[in-house]
Amino acid sequence: MSASITYLPESGTFFLQSQNTAYAFRVIDYGYVEHLYWGPAIEPQALGQFQAWRDRAFSPNPVPSDRRISLDWLAQEFPANGNTDYRSPAVELFQPADGSPICDFRYKSHRIEKGKPSLEGLPATFAGANDATTLILELEDEKLALKAELLYTVFSDYPVITRSARLSNSGKDTVQVRRLLSASVDFSSNYADYQLIQLSGAWARERDLIASPLRPGIQSLDSKRGASSHQQHPFIALAELGADEEHGQVFGFNLVYSGNFLASVELDSHKIARAQIGLNPHSFCWKLAPGQSFQSPEAVLVFSPNGLGEMSRSLHRFYRGHLINPQWANKPRPILVNNWEATYFDFNADKLEKIAKAGAGIGLELFVLDDGWFGKRNDDTTSLGDWVVDRNKLPGGLEDLVARINGQGLQFGLWFEPEMISRESDLYRAHPDWCLHVPGRVRSEGRTQLILDFSRREVREEIERQMSAILRSAPITYVKWDMNRHMTEVGSAALPADQQGETAHRYMLGLYETMAYFVREFPNVLFEGCSGGGGRFDPGILYYMPQIWTSDDSDAIARLRIQYGTSLVYPLSAISAHVSVVPNHQIGRVTPFATRGDVAMTGTFGYELDLGALSPEDKQTAVEQVVFYKKVRGLLTSGDLYRLKSPFTSQESAWIVVSPDKKEALATHVTILAEPNPPVTYLRLRGLAPERKYRVEGTDEIYCGDALMQIGLLLAQPKGDFVSVKWHLVAVD
Ligand code: GLA
Repeated sequence: MSASITYLPESGTFFLQSQNTAYAFRVIDYGYVEHLYWGPAIEPQALGQFQAWRDRAFSPNPVPSDRRISLDWLAQEFPANGNTDYRSPAVELFQPADGSPICDFRYKSHRIEKGKPSLEGLPATFAGANDATTLILELEDEKLALKAELLYTVFSDYPVITRSARLSNSGKDTVQVRRLLSASVDFSSNYADYQLIQLSGAWARERDLIASPLRPGIQSLDSKRGASSHQQHPFIALAELGADEEHGQVFGFNLVYSGNFLASVELDSHKIARAQIGLNPHSFCWKLAPGQSFQSPEAVLVFSPNGLGEMSRSLHRFYRGHLINPQWANKPRPILVNNWEATYFDFNADKLEKIAKAGAGIGLELFVLDDGWFGKRNDDTTSLGDWVVDRNKLPGGLEDLVARINGQGLQFGLWFEPEMISRESDLYRAHPDWCLHVPGRVRSEGRTQLILDFSRREVREEIERQMSAILRSAPITYVKWDMNRHMTEVGSAALPADQQGETAHRYMLGLYETMAYFVREFPNVLFEGCSGGGGRFDPGILYYMPQIWTSDDSDAIARLRIQYGTSLVYPLSAISAHVSVVPNHQIGRVTPFATRGDVAMTGTFGYELDLGALSPEDKQTAVEQVVFYKKVRGLLTSGDLYRLKSPFTSQESAWIVVSPDKKEALATHVTILAEPNPPVTYLRLRGLAPERKYRVEGTDEIYCGDALMQIGLLLAQPKGDFVSVKWHLVAVD
């Protein structure tokens, strides 16, 4: 089914269709836009027959002559503030001229275009003229002469609708935008018993999958940290009660943004659930002068009739096709070794070359030099902002080091933390007002560092200049872009008092501009996002950087949950994962080398330990892991993921990745804590072609797809905790 947007003038209905999904709303007599439907594809005619308006006590009427209408319960597309709707608005504007926070947007006009326009200054999904269709619904607040353009894009090949909003001031007065969300959807009482799914966590324990019933009032999660954060995630879903990986309707919302966000669901007194996602209104205030516009980030709305698994696969395919840089989206990534957990700050060129040499010996392709190579950085207290090679540590400079690493047959990658500044740095001494700060307030530090004010062009230009010089000084093919603290005392020395509420968002716009600069200037460099592990793992970063360090917790067992939660939204190709040393540096756990490899290789694979110190057995296992990963990385980059066992609800974790043509698959099973005298268990697979026969590579076992899915693979009794098994299945017919 191709994407389409139909306008039915007789009922004022807009009918949007993406793959197997429909979304509808109509303009009612008074110009309000009433939400009608989102769910499986249905006939448009069905929609005109319902009219749920009724006179209700304590629900005031904006049109006094019609007591059937109140915004208090009307399902809406763009609820505004200060009228008869007491629920959370999508938009709130303050008018300094009269002190009013009221706004009232009514339908003005619309247009439908092929393709999808880009969003000024913001990362967003993209599409060609034949892949998508966009509706631009224009609403207006007549008193303010303010226009709101709501963008809806539908896609032929994905059950996805993207939304965003843009405000333009054509009036005479300045208004303050206090709140502008990207999407607001009112679900009818049919959905009141749905569950709210969220991905919450902490540093080193990102994206726990949490489900809770909707309850009257507001359930909200947000970030006020200046980053999408480890703590909360710009994603929510409403899932049918009892929904699992394969069953139940699921409605997902993901925000293409890396800063402060709000995601919430409000269940009102008539059991309508209002789900919203967008920029966090907290401490946000944007001055919109006459003639100016303000663009919201984009929200991605996804529907699955078949559980969370299908929702994830739809998002994975969609992000590979329409968000991630096409140059990398489906390209297998180099297998790397990163020196961080091997050396921390204590390294010299010989030590690094030794690790690279050992890496070359097991078939690795890229060596990454992490923190500590610049300024006087022997610990985390100095030098951020001084992107100049430390000649005490590396007397021959990067030219010499890169030549030595290249001489071992590995490409070279480098760590930066571009947005930060140490007080102990030449840059800070020269420009003490270049950090985010508020005069007269403390400058709180995190990891002994302050944050550069990326809302300022001159600050960004200085960092662009310094980093470009480094990147041009040697053949550097990879950059790890880190960000290791959250914002406090958010103020900019470059903005007047009445615009300080814009700082956090202007910072993000500046950050995106700088990221776009590097992607443009260094098109062959592979960029990996990072923020103390997975503190900024979001679609905004993914637009610029095709892979992201998932967590600072590199323990294979802790990673089972982290990667499971992350995979709810993001493809495996984005999920960077490394084999590290035992006892693990974050939690002290000892796991088998093979398990560490099996868990890490279901992402973008690498090593982060002193490879020169491997035991002969581990070295042999590493050689086999690398050979194997090279064989399956195409499959892992563009295959479909089916989660089979959840580490959140059992002592097992299992998943399978199946190639789009279903000719190849990799299934992995990990026992967390082994059980004595366990029942005989099978791992039932998913996603295979039932009629096909598959050989388990390395054996002469051949199974039918349907048997593998209905009966499963027999699991051997695990001989201890943390044991993994994997099966590489290749179709023989
Ligand atoms: C962050 C990253 C780590 C490492 C250190 C270096 O914590 O997540 O991988 O790069 O910074 O300081």
